[in-house]
Amino acid sequence: MDALKAKYLEGVMAAADESALEDVRLAAVGKKGEVSLKMRELGKMTPEEKQVAGPALNALKNEINSAIAAKKEALGDAALNERLQAEWIDVSLAGRPRRQGTIHPVSQVTEEVIAVFADLGYSVAEGPQIESDWYNFDALNIAPEHPARQEHDTFYMHRDEGDNRPPHVLRTHTSPVQIRYMEKHGAPCRIISPGRVYRADYDQTHTPMFHQYEGLCIDKGVSMANLKWTLEEFCRAFFNVDDIELRFRASHFPFTEPSAEVDIRCSWDKGQLKIGEGDDWMEILGSGMVHPKVLAAAGVDSDKYQGFAFGMGIDRIAMLKYGIPDLRAFFDSDLRWLRHYGFSALDMPNMHAGISG
Ligand code: DAH
Repeated sequence: MDALKAKYLEGVMAAADESALEDVRLAAVGKKGEVSLKMRELGKMTPEEKQVAGPALNALKNEINSAIAAKKEALGDAALNERLQAEWIDVSLAGRPRRQGTIHPVSQVTEEVIAVFADLGYSVAEGPQIESDWYNFDALNIAPEHPARQEHDTFYMHRDEGDNRPPHVLRTHTSPVQIRYMEKHGAPCRIISPGRVYRADYDQTHTPMFHQYEGLCIDKGVSMANLKWTLEEFCRAFFNVDDIELRFRASHFPFTEPSAEVDIRCSWDKGQLKIGEGDDWMEILGSGMVHPKVLAAAGVDSDKYQGFAFGMGIDRIAMLKYGIPDLRAFFDSDLRWLRHYGFSALDMPNMHAGISG
């Protein structure tokens, strides 16, 4: 008995980790452990022998078990201490700064335009970037042989050989959304439609993909005067300049009659553009009274309703407002450019507070 006790208590003491300790436990008091086997032999003993050996074996078993429990706790404490030593954190250390992203000028200006027109009662409508030639051209009174189709440097989608339907196009302007919207919702309506458009063109002021927004206002008795007021109001709010001056130049678009291109008075002062003063004019948009054929194509009765439409380049007014010289850089995804020209996420526009840069 003494030998067993010495052997297993030493074993417990020597166990270096929980699995070694478990081995000792199994060898001593496990089902087939030495102490357990000894206890089974009690049955073969005489009552006198049992009276001596029984309590002694029980005491031995208890002693071993409590030694194991104590050792287990000690091992756990040691492991915890080791982790605490190895894994401490200095919570008073300064945090590592993380770079914040910025809002792209196109997104920012789109939001600004939407905010201004929302205050004028316009909602936002969107259309697909891949259009049928009906929506992109025909419904807008641009006939197949019309030179405007060539002027637009259109990207055509692929058609299988033998498929003679006219190919779909990457929309060359946001004007098709006019048709889609009126077709679905009828008149009266007041919408703007920002989005991507595509033309095969590339230089300092042209990229194959760029952004426009379309404006459309249809109601009874809408006139050119309403168009003029709306655009002036927009420019005043968007450029944050009280004294803006617009010049309406007679022009031609197949989808409007009469049509006008609109310039804004500005000056270049030491390479700095100023809106609303000076002797220069900058073209900012095309516009006009929606052609009766366009209203008819969209299912609107042109005897009852008329209205105006306009189309403006978002990238272009972003360049003007924020003095960004090269359009191509808009789409280079150069992080230095984005950090320089990008906007903070909280720089939200609204018509009354003025729009900060
Ligand atoms: N769709 C024309 C373009 O991309 C812009 C335009 C001009 C839109 C006159 C209009 C408009 O709605 O009335 O060049």
